[in-house]
Amino acid sequence: MLTFIAGVLRRKYYCLFLITQLPCSSLFTSMLLYSAPDRMRAMGQVLTKAREELYDCKVISQRLRAMLQSADEQVRSLKKQSTFLSQLAAKTIPNSIHCLSMRLTIDYYLLPVEKRKFPRSENLENPELYHYALFSDNVLAASVVVNSTIMNAKEPEKHVFHLVTDKLNFGAMNMWFLLNPPGKATIHVENVDEFKWLNSSYCPVLRQLESAAMKEFYFKADRPTTLSAGSSNLKYRNPKYLSMLNHLRFYLPEIYPKLDKILFLDDDIVVQKDLTGLWDVDLNGMVNGAVFTCGESFHRFDKYLNFSNPHIARNFDPNACGWAYGMNIFDLKQWKNKDITGIYHKWQTMNEDRVLWKLGTLPPGLMTFYKLTHPLDKSWHVLGLGYNPSIDRSEIDNAAVAHYNGNMKPWLELAMTKYRPYWTRYIKYDHPYIRGCNLSE
Ligand SMILES: *[C@@H]1O[C@H](CO)[C@@H](O)[C@H](O)[C@H]1NC(C)=O
Ligand SMILES: *[C@@H]1O[C@H](CO)[C@@H](O)[C@H](O)[C@H]1NC(C)=O
Ligand SMILES: *[C@@H]1O[C@H](CO)[C@@H](O)[C@H](O)[C@H]1NC(C)=O
Repeated sequence: MLTFIAGVLRRKYYCLFLITQLPCSSLFTSMLLYSAPDRMRAMGQVLTKAREELYDCKVISQRLRAMLQSADEQVRSLKKQSTFLSQLAAKTIPNSIHCLSMRLTIDYYLLPVEKRKFPRSENLENPELYHYALFSDNVLAASVVVNSTIMNAKEPEKHVFHLVTDKLNFGAMNMWFLLNPPGKATIHVENVDEFKWLNSSYCPVLRQLESAAMKEFYFKADRPTTLSAGSSNLKYRNPKYLSMLNHLRFYLPEIYPKLDKILFLDDDIVVQKDLTGLWDVDLNGMVNGAVFTCGESFHRFDKYLNFSNPHIARNFDPNACGWAYGMNIFDLKQWKNKDITGIYHKWQTMNEDRVLWKLGTLPPGLMTFYKLTHPLDKSWHVLGLGYNPSIDRSEIDNAAVAHYNGNMKPWLELAMTKYRPYWTRYIKYDHPYIRGCNLSE
């Protein structure tokens, strides 16, 4: 049966994401009947191929469900794997958005070159305007961020979006915003692969990603020494952690050398108010303005960093309060004064063997901006719409930015129904491209 499942997976990887809300763990229960290495191999294949093919999967999920068996204890031990799958789902672009991106891409490359230009490029380096950095490979998500910002802006003509995407989505992002210009605001789309200065001799994380050891760590799912080692490592193989788009946040002055301030936005947010007040917040000489996230004992530094390591223990307070990435106002002059990029490079280089922190950009962010982060009022940025079912509604309604951090992204079937409308209201569902790809509310 494993051969069957593996075969099915090879052809229909995408299926797994759609059935993660279904008794996904039961799928693993049936896989548990086979040896750990076999299962690990199957999981590895799921991951390395996950983004390649997208299919309708009704038949497959029916077949898989038909195989369900119960074994509670084993289910529990495999919970980590299903968590991993929902994390993977969170990063994977669904069928319909993939379709949207493909159609836009094709039409973009059919455009004559002179029609591929955006107006108002003179605004791109004007420090008097409100500049946004948005790094995304999801055209629908990016459209919501831009549209919601502009719909709520008092003076849209003063806002400038700097969108960076990858090679695959470059045509689609351009085409979308050529077809749907954000009013009088300015937009500009760049491809991260064109940043020649961002190479492995300059950027430690690229060097590390290119190193053989790292590739092995991320991609070799087939020889775990124990089941638990295998399942805990799976998380780190999430392609999310391999994307350079994620690390661009540490290079803002390199990307935008002429700007003094920039607002960094994640693509899983929606804007609900005019944001210009953020440029007026006095950061008191700090580099990063962010909403702090610590409660009684959680979201403090010891949750993110390895305090058994002397470098960490010597330099940081384990009780220091964490803050959120996703809506940050950065003072780029101070950034250069304090050599933030250098500090980041130092820590990233020291983390070659991942003893300081395991993954993501928050831990190196916490270290890099330690004592250089200014707390913003919490109403600027409400968090948790991607995992927390019990956020106070008035808190969301009053927030300037709502953030779907967590796995239940609003563009996935996994999304929490009650939070989706905050996001979907900024989508033009009657747009021919959107309709043509069967995207619906
Ligand atoms: C790599 O980046 C550095 C600085 O970021 C630059 O000086 C150098 O020319 C780049 N190398 C290549 C091969 O592009
Ligand atoms: C934490 O750091 C210590 C000292 O460098 C190291 O021995 C240990 O393996 C690290 N822990 C993790 C989970 O990486
Ligand atoms: C932008 O959002 C508004 C709702 O505020 C919606 O009516 C409109 O269709 C959206 N436009 C695009 C291009 O997504």
